[in-house]
Amino acid sequence: MKRPILIHPDPRLKKVCAPVPDMSDALRSLADDMLETMYAAPGIGLAAPQIGVMDRLIVLDCAKEGDENPRPLVMFNPQITASSDETNVYEEGCLSIPDQYAEVTRPKVVDVEWMDRDGNACSETFDGLWATCVQHELDHLDGKLFIDYLKPLKRQMITRKMQKLKRERARG
Ligand code: NI
Repeated sequence: MKRPILIHPDPRLKKVCAPVPDMSDALRSLADDMLETMYAAPGIGLAAPQIGVMDRLIVLDCAKEGDENPRPLVMFNPQITASSDETNVYEEGCLSIPDQYAEVTRPKVVDVEWMDRDGNACSETFDGLWATCVQHELDHLDGKLFIDYLKPLKRQMITRKMQKLKRERARG
């Protein structure tokens, strides 16, 4: 089931999310809803707080359309265990900040540990767009948005645009 995506500014996008205890059918179905919501948007990553659920859960798929097979990843309690000194700059966007993009510098390579949809412990090294996406989504679980990396003036400008968008949407 597709879920509505929260738009910044929203207090739920600023909170630290709680670790997920044991795997359950409810959590599996939440992860499935998030993948469906992400693909429909369309987007390459989504974090649970973006649909108002304060659990440490992210989903992503950075496979290039047409070039690569889809690779939906579901990560419960993801943790970065190592980051490269080498950095990468990507123009980032966010489903909670529609149509706004800005360059963000992050470590180029990260090692990540997580629990998958079946409750298995997983670990993998991510590079390039996958590494950026994992870090962007993981930030959401700590109440951090990509615009928090920008200079205050640019961040305020984007926030004002989003407030206007929300007012317009509320009016219908
Ligand atoms: Ni985002």
